[in-house]
Amino acid sequence: MALLDKHKVLEKNATLLMVSSLLVVSIGGIVEIAPLFYLENTIEKVEGMRPYSPLELAGRDIYVREGCYVCHSQMIRPFRDEVERYGPYSLAAESMYDHPFQWGSKRTGPDLARVGARYSNEWHVQHLIEPRSVVPESIMPSYGFLLDAPAQIENIAAHLQANAAVGVPYDEAMIENAQADMLAQADPDADTSGVEERYPKAVIADFDGDPSRLTEMDALVAYLQVLGTLVDFSTYDPTSGYR
Ligand code: HEC
Repeated sequence: MALLDKHKVLEKNATLLMVSSLLVVSIGGIVEIAPLFYLENTIEKVEGMRPYSPLELAGRDIYVREGCYVCHSQMIRPFRDEVERYGPYSLAAESMYDHPFQWGSKRTGPDLARVGARYSNEWHVQHLIEPRSVVPESIMPSYGFLLDAPAQIENIAAHLQANAAVGVPYDEAMIENAQADMLAQADPDADTSGVEERYPKAVIADFDGDPSRLTEMDALVAYLQVLGTLVDFSTYDPTSGYR
């Protein structure tokens, strides 16, 4: 009874009630939010993730520029039908180096989160030049002009640096060798040891079939071929974080 009487004081005084409510909500908020300030990262670390190689990063820019995300998501949701169609559901860590990320649920075309290594480089080039030549019922636009567009190599180091500024772990060697690595990844005859060491699992190939020049097609296909291939799901235990 005495406690109820005390509560009456609160209920009859609007200002006091407001101040007290704020106080209670703040305590709850601080308890939930404060620990996050002391965590370096809220994303569970997953083995195999690395920043994009310079060529992949350049390809990713073209992907964003051309609006591929308008028809393609890169986020396999943890539903049975999606996992059966596209492969293991996407992990937060798999897009931790994406600025901006390419999640979404709008799919005019299939999800591309794990399209890497699913088709040959030649298939991708042919599909991008003329989608209907390999998938007759396709409504995807043609991107053949990418074959005639030289890839920009002059600004790639600055691009890595900009990503490093927002937390992508590009080190000095990666930034210094950005141009050389970008050229080497599309030229199997070059010395590719640097790219291989700095960017494990990077696909090294003359993607567009013309070794004499580096095109936006080379960059875009290099990017598509790495999507979803970095984490080894034969050794990854998805339940490890929950037990
Ligand atoms: C207008 C919507 C649209 C846009 C824009 C679009 N696509 Fe597609 N894409 C599709 C459709 C529909 C399919 C399924 C038919 C096919 O394979 O062509 C597809 C299929 C694909 C596939 C094969 C996926 C698989 O698992 O079989 C790839 C790779 C792809 N698109 C890449 C791209 C890239 C890269 C871009 C940007 C340069 C792009 N798409 C832009 C609609 C689109």
